Amino acid sequence: MARELTINIKIDVLDSVDELSADEQKAMQLAKEAAKDAYAPYSNYLVGAALLLEDGTFYKGSNQENAAYPSGLCAERTALFGMSANHPNKKIKLLAVTARRRNEYEYLPALPCGACRQVMVEYEHKQADAISVLLQGPSGTYYRCRSVADLLPLLFTKENL
Ligand code: THU
Repeated sequence: MARELTINIKIDVLDSVDELSADEQKAMQLAKEAAKDAYAPYSNYLVGAALLLEDGTFYKGSNQENAAYPSGLCAERTALFGMSANHPNKKIKLLAVTARRRNEYEYLPALPCGACRQVMVEYEHKQADAISVLLQGPSGTYYRCRSVADLLPLLFTKENL
């Protein structure tokens, strides 16, 4: 009989914004502001991301869609690629992500797609320090993963090549 491999994912669930650290609150606020800049005329689903870098500066991203749908890009990767292209040697401490529908002001659970998780893993390995990921959860809650590795079990990295 096959042996079973059980993988535990540890996530902190924070019931309100007051439970976030000051840095996390700032990053989540910036992610909400970034969502306003999303270019999402096709899905009307606005995603905002904000990175806190080790030097205390922030970097925003939002989803950018395209009439040729696959040419668009998610908010998380817009932020990560933009940051890395402009500041290739800065380390990332935190990535915050939120989402809402256009003309609705309730924030929705923001669960990064697989491609974004893979890109987060790449930068976490590159900097050899954990990136904390703070996600908008349901009903005004927040999910905190202390490392990207928690979001992507059985991950693929350059060590596999
Ligand atoms: N989207 C993101 O920005 N991040 C994700 O992790 C999931 C999906 C965007 C892509 C597209 O513009 C819209 O949400 C609908 O899929």
